Amino acid sequence: MKKIMILLFLGILAISFHSCYYDKSDLLYPIGVSAPCTDSAGTISYIQKVVPILRTQCYGCHTTTGGSGGINMGTFALDKVIATNGKLYGTISHASGFIAMPQGGAQMTGCQQAVIQKWINAGALNN
Ligand code: HEC
Repeated sequence: MKKIMILLFLGILAISFHSCYYDKSDLLYPIGVSAPCTDSAGTISYIQKVVPILRTQCYGCHTTTGGSGGINMGTFALDKVIATNGKLYGTISHASGFIAMPQGGAQMTGCQQAVIQKWINAGALNN
């Protein structure tokens, strides 16, 4: 019986310690200290890295047909057009001469911009 109680106690201890681990960058890295941009390491995959960002930040307005401002996005061919004509990086980096995107929303994080820039610089591949 005593043994079981000790095991139970250790189990609860282990669980409570485990729950102290937060994998949230805003908690791990205080304001002003940016999280390391591990997402932009290595080769950037269009499917795995670029699309998830564009889906949450751009595809809502820039649909594959009839997109806002005449800019259609959401397929590789469409995304490649603005990637290679400079408009994708120009708008997300809020460069002068471009309309800042996402319109009405917060600018992408530096890490997200880096992911997209790296993908463009590597030739905007369908990878
Ligand atoms: C809330 C809707 C909305 C979202 C989200 C949005 N856009 Fe736009 N976008 C627009 C509208 C509206 C225009 C046309 C603006 C104008 O002509 O004044 C536009 C224009 C553009 C243009 C043409 C700008 C230029 O300077 O020629 C590009 C490129 C573009 N968007 C890319 C993006 C990208 C990339 C994202 C995601 C980061 C994005 N947009 C997110 C609404 C949106």
